Amino acid sequence: MKRALVTGITGQDGSYLTEFLLAKGYAVHGIIRRASSFNTDRIDHLYEDRHKEHVNLFLHYGELGDATSLRRVIETTEPDEIYHLGAQSHVRVSFDQPLYTADVDASGTLRLLEAVRDIDGRTGRRTKVYNAGSSEMFGASAPPQSEKTLFYPRSPYAVSKVAAHWFAVNYREAYGIPVSNGILFNHESPRRGETFVSRKITRAVGRIYLGLQESLYLGNLDARRDWGFAGDYVEAMWLMLQQDDADDFVVATGESYTVREMLDVAFGHVELDWRDYVRFDPRYVRPTEVDHLCGDASKIRRTLGWEPRVGFEPLVRMMVDHDVELARGERMLTDHGHALAQRGLASP
Ligand code: NAP
Ligand code: GDD
Repeated sequence: MKRALVTGITGQDGSYLTEFLLAKGYAVHGIIRRASSFNTDRIDHLYEDRHKEHVNLFLHYGELGDATSLRRVIETTEPDEIYHLGAQSHVRVSFDQPLYTADVDASGTLRLLEAVRDIDGRTGRRTKVYNAGSSEMFGASAPPQSEKTLFYPRSPYAVSKVAAHWFAVNYREAYGIPVSNGILFNHESPRRGETFVSRKITRAVGRIYLGLQESLYLGNLDARRDWGFAGDYVEAMWLMLQQDDADDFVVATGESYTVREMLDVAFGHVELDWRDYVRFDPRYVRPTEVDHLCGDASKIRRTLGWEPRVGFEPLVRMMVDHDVELARGERMLTDHGHALAQRGLASP
């Protein structure tokens, strides 16, 4: 049985990747952070009581800022493959917390690579590593962007990801660590964090449709992104680590749409006109924006046979359907709460 270690297992991609790896028969180890509230919602459906027999998912406390915890988990779990997904992944937030973002996203990757370098050097193991790079690294470079396109990062997040990318390349060349960089364009799902624009929109559509929210505040509606489905993209990560030689790959659909076009599809799916609900809030505008990302994924299509399965409109409709159901649950609780309150039965 192959063993995988996943940093960022509680995130959107970590949850889809874990499902994918468990279905392939892997034992999956994940690093989680200690938090004062539960942060394992996205993987709770996969986690079983570890006292039972045949448990294949194991969680370990760790932190990308804490090199000792990373080393300890790698030493005790002896993974064949490491999927390094953990990051402060919000571009807008990286302008508010640039040092923290650099420490987790750039130095955190270096801490992980250092641990692999030392442990593999001592034990003779050859641990394969996937590093979660981003199309944000291309920033201001004109589309279509491929593996050959110049990096021109436009945020502390993107600069940190460029550093992580080059750390990975350097450790591959200097020490022979088989580390592959995925350069993934935006990918979304019903499990997407609620402050990213796609999910912010589809959550609002559900709540507006069910009468729970009146308006939606957004920033720049003209940005264009190449949006795919996260479930498709985790397969690309796995494919990269099944090769003998590590390499770098762009993963994208090759089509791009504006935030405005996403609003058309999302509100249109429940027959509402977004212009009646969307308002502008300058707080969501970034000091430096990335105007247009559209990927050329011909290398991974050609060499690894990867193809995206879910297109833009079905993706947005899938997310709206999910979030309408979520809002229906909220609506029911609200109505039930009102009914109890009217009968004087609600708790204070
Ligand atoms: P996400 O939902 O924000 O998940 C990030 C994960 O990293 C969470 O599990 C989070 O833990 C963990 N994490 C954050 N800070 C950490 C720290 N200091 N130590 C340990 N773990 C930490 O991100 P995602 O969308 O799944 O993306 C996965 C990776 O791909 C990230 O590296 C992201 O930058 C990159 N990426 C994403 C996209 C995209 O469109 N989704 C595109 C290109 C690249 P908590 O749950 O405790 O917060
Ligand atoms: N989040 C957010 N909130 N974005 C908004 C809003 C808003 O209210 N209004 C407009 N936008 C615009 C942003 O300015 C950006 O141009 C676009 O919507 C997409 O924003 P996000 O969904 O936050 O994603 P991102 O493209 O900045 O970053 C995501 O994709 C990267 C890959 O290209 C993240 O997942 C990164 O971690 C990832 O690397």
